Amino acid sequence: GDTLTILGLESSCDDTGAAVVRARGDVPEILSSVVQGQTALHAAFGGVVPEIAARAHAERLDICVEQALGQAGVTLAGIDAIAVTAGPGLIGGVLSGVMCAKGLAAATGKPLIGVNHLAGHALTPRLTDGLEFPYLMLLASGGHCQFLAVRGVDDFTRLGGTIDDAPGEAFDKTAKLLALPQPGGPAVEAEAGKGDAKRFTFPRPLMDRPGCDMSFSGLKTALLRARDSIIAEKGGIPVQDRTDLCAGFQAAVRDVLAGKARRAIAAAPEGLSALAVAGGVAANRSIRAALQEVAAEAGLPFVAPPLRLCTDNAAMIAWAGLERFRLGHRDDMTLAARPRWPL
Ligand code: KG4
Ligand code: ZN
Repeated sequence: GDTLTILGLESSCDDTGAAVVRARGDVPEILSSVVQGQTALHAAFGGVVPEIAARAHAERLDICVEQALGQAGVTLAGIDAIAVTAGPGLIGGVLSGVMCAKGLAAATGKPLIGVNHLAGHALTPRLTDGLEFPYLMLLASGGHCQFLAVRGVDDFTRLGGTIDDAPGEAFDKTAKLLALPQPGGPAVEAEAGKGDAKRFTFPRPLMDRPGCDMSFSGLKTALLRARDSIIAEKGGIPVQDRTDLCAGFQAAVRDVLAGKARRAIAAAPEGLSALAVAGGVAANRSIRAALQEVAAEAGLPFVAPPLRLCTDNAAMIAWAGLERFRLGHRDDMTLAARPRWPL
């Protein structure tokens, strides 16, 4: 019949994931989605260590697959195809996933489908909300920041993006500079909520330039300067100063994302069905509210998938694989891991 069941694997950064997604006709369902994070493994190093990540993925993928199948109540025999992130990402992790998927495909004779990780994020609103093409997607995470016009399963137009750091990275660095815990986003957001965003003003880079490109590295430098002048003057950072720094920083990121979202809507194709977001930064309530307002101004629905589907996961890979499979896309044992793979 027209029921498809896809196993998806994700291992491109620091989350190992396996998931089973099924579609009966047009109605998708996530039967399982297992994610094993690695925050604790990398905590002592102040960032993701590629070698450690690759080893952890290699060790954990089989277990994640077993759990995902078990929770979904299916066996490999009941799977129609195996989808795997083939890039972009850390080469060791992507290779671990691709090798695992090839092993499963070889053992079962099931088709193999390579998925672009960014396409996985970008197609998620179709899984969660059934969005029709075209729609505008803001992908904002620790590693990515771009506006995509999503016109089809294989048809993305990048309207603009960061020319340096990703916003999540800026949140993480801000937390580090202010001795707040990692990941920095939630910690900085919690502080910002208590602070005065007007006390310290941070730059809104590229806002007066046309286009949808963004920059966040200057923000980090400005924060460092503000912090150091407080320390020079007061011998430390008083709690209220820290809170106000967070508020000022968050307001700057929010204004840049919202301002550029307005431009991206104007630059996108006619007939957008929605403004959608994905990536960890989309968890930020202040940023979400600002984007929602921009969408409302343009008369567009605002779609933010649940957080566990906004951050790295394998359900989005299974879903993107399912969409590709339906269109007849297949890969074979020559599928390569691609550390760089722009949409
Ligand atoms: O999508 P994600 O889980 O992983 C990738 O980067 O691929 O995003 C993680 C990033 C981190 O930089 C984290 O600090 C940021 O998203 N983040 C937030 C919030 N929650 C997570 N940034 C701002 N506000 C938040 N509430
Ligand atoms: Zn991601």
